[in-house]
Formats: sequence, structure tokens, C-alpha cells
Amino acid sequence: MKVMVTGGTGYIGSHTVQQLKRAGHDVIVYDSMEFGNKKAIGDTPLIEGGTANEDLLEQTFRAYHIEAVIHMAAYKAVGESVTQPYRYFKNNVAGTLSLLEAMHRAGVKYLVFSSSAAVYGTPDVVPVSENNVVHPESPYGETKRMVEQLLHWYEQCHGLHSVSLRYFNAAGASLDASIGEDWTYSQNLIPWVMKAALGQIPALQIFGHDYPTPDGTAIRDYIHVLDLADAHVKALDFLRQQQRSEIFNLGIGKGTSVQEVLDTARRISGIDIPVEYVARRAGDPVAVWADNAKAKELLHWQPQYTLEDIIRTAWQWYSRQYGHAPSGKR
Ligand code: WQD
Repeated sequence: MKVMVTGGTGYIGSHTVQQLKRAGHDVIVYDSMEFGNKKAIGDTPLIEGGTANEDLLEQTFRAYHIEAVIHMAAYKAVGESVTQPYRYFKNNVAGTLSLLEAMHRAGVKYLVFSSSAAVYGTPDVVPVSENNVVHPESPYGETKRMVEQLLHWYEQCHGLHSVSLRYFNAAGASLDASIGEDWTYSQNLIPWVMKAALGQIPALQIFGHDYPTPDGTAIRDYIHVLDLADAHVKALDFLRQQQRSEIFNLGIGKGTSVQEVLDTARRISGIDIPVEYVARRAGDPVAVWADNAKAKELLHWQPQYTLEDIIRTAWQWYSRQYGHAPSGKR
């Protein structure tokens, strides 16, 4: 299919572009370049623009005969969304509404949406299934829920079919360490573990050591970015074959604690990564991991990578970026 990836020069976007091309799709990237890195998409055609630009979007859909959109362009920092809600609702929700209207005008019928486990907030039940109550606890999570509602009505009113993929904790990098997450823009755990390992910060701060969990630290579902990318390819197949919308959790279906992540990173890097145990971070749930049975059944998707793979590929990526011999000790 001819596919446009919005936000395609970003972390998950660039891995998804690679996977789509390997699967034989014709891909173009549409990106505001506010955060992206053009190098991450190689020779993939890039149209520079924001999702609010309905005319440019419609022109691009027509010029490239686009059949499907993978929509990843969004702001995604939970903490920042609390201090800047207007910026998040304007970009993530109003921007997506413009994108949907431009798709409708140009007759583009399929969309894969980058949603998030943040829609669940603090889940009342774990593992979390798609039927769990959705009650986001941040403007960021709310923007993901609101877009899922927009998608419902664009199907009811205009026959636009979509798959919303609720990512759990995306991490890791490409197997050849050619692309990975830019830690400049990330508050997530694994980039910060790597910063501590590579001496960019004095120590990893672990937020909370007194949770009711086996080792006292919080539990999450870490999923390799390559497994996420694969799910987007399978979501396009689902849309073409089933001609209907669905929502799927994308996690490996297993919880891992912050301490386990740190211990794995110490073992793989060979570095005794310094750590400081500090107070809990406001808004952090104790434990969140996915029930991924629906994606396995309906997308025929199976996560391939383990926590070891996540940490090893992240270590290869960051140590290559920041000049440290991947195998050596400090
Ligand atoms: C994971 C765990 C922290 C950093 C958020 C969004 C979610 C998704 C992923 C976009 C928590 C702990 C972290 C650090 C730490 N983003 N931690 N020290 O909060 O589970 O999920 O990012 O879709 O939507 O909600 O991810 O990586 O920030 O935190 O101890 O320096 O690591 O307290 O327990 P989170 P995270």
C-alpha cells in the first residue's frame, strides 16, 4: 500500500518506516521536524508540515495517491502535558481532527493510530485488557482517549476505518544500532539508565523504593520498539482484510520492575551503574502490564523480543552515540 507516516522521523516512527518498507509498502513521511531526525529515515521521501495544515495534507494525499495513514505525530511527555495542557490538546487532538478531515476530503480510508496505555491511568485490574475502564490521569492520556473517540465518529459518519494501538512502555533500538531513541526529549526509564551508565548524570534516580511489589520498585510492561513496529504492519493488513476498526494493547504481557531493569543493564553493560533511591513520582501507578491476547488473536502478532534484547540494543545504540566501547567496563 501507499502509506504516509506522520511523525515518521521520530523514535517509534523511524523504526515503523523501516518495517513498512521491508514489508513492501511505499512509504512517505510527513513531519513538522520539531523534534525529528531526518537521518533516521534514510532516503524515504519527507514532506515537512504540521498536522494542522489541512490543505498541505490533502494535496499530499492526492499527489502520492496515499491509501493509509499511520499517525504518530504527537507530543508525548506526560509531565509536560500537565503544565501545558493547551499545547497538548491543540497539537494532539485538534491536529488529528485536521488530519482526519483532510483524509476524508481526499478519500483516504485507513488509519493506524499511535495510542497509549496512558488512557488507562492507574488501572483497577492488571493485566490490563482493552475492556478495562479508561480513565486517563494526565492531559496527555486524555488526548489519546479523545482521538480514539474522534476515530469512532469518523467511522460512523464517513466510513474511515482505524486501528488504535495502545503502546505500553516502548524501549530498545534497531538491531544494527542505526536508529534509536534520542534521550534529549525523553523522561523514560531506559534512556535515563543509559545516561547514568555513560556518566551523563551522576546516578539513576529510582522514583520509589517502597511500593508493595517484590523488590519495592514499580512494575511496567517494557516492549521492544521493533515489536511495536511489526504490529503497525499487521494493523494495516487487518484494516485491508477486515474493513472495520479495532483497539489493541501492545505490551508483552509481563511486568518488570525498575530494579530488574537496572540489574539487567548493569549485567549487560558490565558497569556498576550508580543509583539513588528517591521519593515516588507523582501520578505513577504501582504496576501496569498488558493483556495482549486480542492483538495476538486478531492481528496475528507475537512479540519477539525480551527485556534482555531491549537493554542490549539500547546499550549498543547509546554507547555508539556517546562514545563508549559497548563491551568494555568503565
Ligand atoms: C517507568 C518507571 C518511573 C525514570 C510513560 C507514559 C506512557 C508512555 C511511556 C507514551 C516508572 C520509573 C523512570 C527515572 C525511574 N509514553 N523511573 N527513574 O511513566 O510508565 O509511562 O511513558 O506513550 O504513556 O505514561 O514510563 O519510563 O517514565 O517510567 O524510577 O529516571 O520507571 O517511576 O515507575 P511510564 P517511564
